[in-house]
Amino acid sequence: MPLPPLTPYDEIADAWDAARAVLRPKEAGYLDLLLAAAPAGSRVLDLGCGTGRPIAERVAALGYHVVGVDRSPALLARARRHVPAGKWVEADLLAADPPGPFAAAVCWDALFHLPRARHRAVVDKVYRLLAPGGRFMLSSGGSATDLPAFTDTMFGHTFFYDAFPVDETVRLVRDAGFEVLIAELADLPDGGRDKGKLAVIAAKPR
Ligand SMILES: C[S@@+](CC[C@H](N)C(=O)[O-])C[C@H]1O[C@@H](n2cnc3c(N)ncnc32)[C@H](O)[C@@H]1O
Repeated sequence: MPLPPLTPYDEIADAWDAARAVLRPKEAGYLDLLLAAAPAGSRVLDLGCGTGRPIAERVAALGYHVVGVDRSPALLARARRHVPAGKWVEADLLAADPPGPFAAAVCWDALFHLPRARHRAVVDKVYRLLAPGGRFMLSSGGSATDLPAFTDTMFGHTFFYDAFPVDETVRLVRDAGFEVLIAELADLPDGGRDKGKLAVIAAKPR
């Protein structure tokens, strides 16, 4: 039986909350494109929402109704404080099945905590939960080449990471039925510890 992936965010909740308070470069633009087709006041799904800050907080401030899913109770407790209007669901990304449809969905910096063999299941779930024309904002690993799954430390704790090479992730999103609007490196790999980050904005056909 393989060990479950390590995602001990409960152990680093305060440090993570402090470190992840504001949008990083490019994220505001990605959110603008994500929401450009979402009707005012519609529902937006945030898978792996963490503390709700800064992404759900921005989405809610623009008048959308956020449903956030995460398996870390400590981060969800902070999300309830940061974005009281949101609906916060404690669940694993793979098991969660919130009632759709959603006008837009986000899975940002969370997919790479799952084994790559499970990535397609998350993308298929999002496709199913989106309304026609709904958009999806996804990040995954930014390596052009095939890297084995690995662990790394954050605030003294060990975290699991896995991702397909960039081209394969983009193909996976297309194969699920999405039209890819943007697929680019939001962060470049540094050749060492930082494997970079792929950003994808995709649309479910109308
Ligand atoms: C790097 S944080 C990103 C949080 C937020 N999306 C952001 O952009 O700041 C990764 C998040 O994914 C959540 N996560 C990781 N694996 C998960 C899983 N299998 N099911 C649900 N949540 C998961 C973690 O608890 C954490 O909140």
